Amino acid sequence: MELAERIRQVAEEAERMLGTCEDLEELEALRVRYLGRKGALTLLLREIGKLPPEERPIAGRAGSEAKEKLEGLFRECREVLRRTQARKEALDVTLPGRRPPLGKRHPLTQIMDEIVDIFRGMGFEVVEGPEIETEYHNFDALNTPPDHPARDLHDTFYVEGGRLLRTHTSPVQIRVMESRRPPLRVLSPGRCYRNDTPDATHSPIFHQVEGLYVDRDVSFADLKGVIATFARQMFGPDVKVRFRPDFFPFTEPSAEYSFSCVFCGGKGCRVCKYTGWIEISGAGMVDPEVFKNVGYDPEEYIGFAFGMGVERLAMLKYGITDIRLFLENDLRFLEQF
Ligand code: DAH
Repeated sequence: MELAERIRQVAEEAERMLGTCEDLEELEALRVRYLGRKGALTLLLREIGKLPPEERPIAGRAGSEAKEKLEGLFRECREVLRRTQARKEALDVTLPGRRPPLGKRHPLTQIMDEIVDIFRGMGFEVVEGPEIETEYHNFDALNTPPDHPARDLHDTFYVEGGRLLRTHTSPVQIRVMESRRPPLRVLSPGRCYRNDTPDATHSPIFHQVEGLYVDRDVSFADLKGVIATFARQMFGPDVKVRFRPDFFPFTEPSAEYSFSCVFCGGKGCRVCKYTGWIEISGAGMVDPEVFKNVGYDPEEYIGFAFGMGVERLAMLKYGITDIRLFLENDLRFLEQF
């Protein structure tokens, strides 16, 4: 076949291939294949010089026509592809916007806010204390002797400098009384730590709310009234409250208090272990020894204190059966609140 004919054929082939190019990279690969230094057309053009002189003009014309045409086509194609690519990369204002996921408060925070709201309504003021405490504030000042089992390594996380992660919010009572004079009506929500192995009802990190009321004329009846009012606002008007004698080193007399089971209404079910009651925490009249430790005259002042397990209240309120769910950060759980 004549060289001119071969040139035209290769040029047509290249033109057909151009129609299949989908992006700039494919186009460039194709250009190299035909017009590059070792491209199919380039190699053919080189052969023109080897032809006898009388055949050169025909092949030469075919060669330069083909080359010019192809170069033009490649240029056009490149322009078209560049424009579509740019359009794809540009901002499409007609697309629906991406909605960033909206965060919400953790269920424990929600419950704590609710508890705080209810007690604010009864005149309590919110105060906070440190999570890393001294042994003195966490135990000694609360009349808890050095040989008390709560002070054991198995129960308490000790950190450097003889300090510890507070095992309850009760040390905030001491800190408030050390820095202020009665009358006091304070509430202290916060995180606590105990050296417990996690299971459905134990977590080494948990939350409590501490209440303290000190004045000249405060009685156990006031304590019961405050707790009962809280219970009704939290769980509805039908919930009942029960106090039973107990012992805490920092209150005398001490009690543990329970609410009637919100699941069965007090009839008895699996959750309340068929007792009809669910224990919430402890409470009592502030022990005179504690007043002495903070420099209050026990003959002049009297008060009550109470604790509250936040996880326990949240579990009751929402019917949660495993305390570990609060700390696992599983969105399937958290999104329900
Ligand atoms: N701090 C106690 C605990 O963690 C709970 C408690 C009991 C708090 C009696 C009090 C109280 O204020 O009076 O188990």
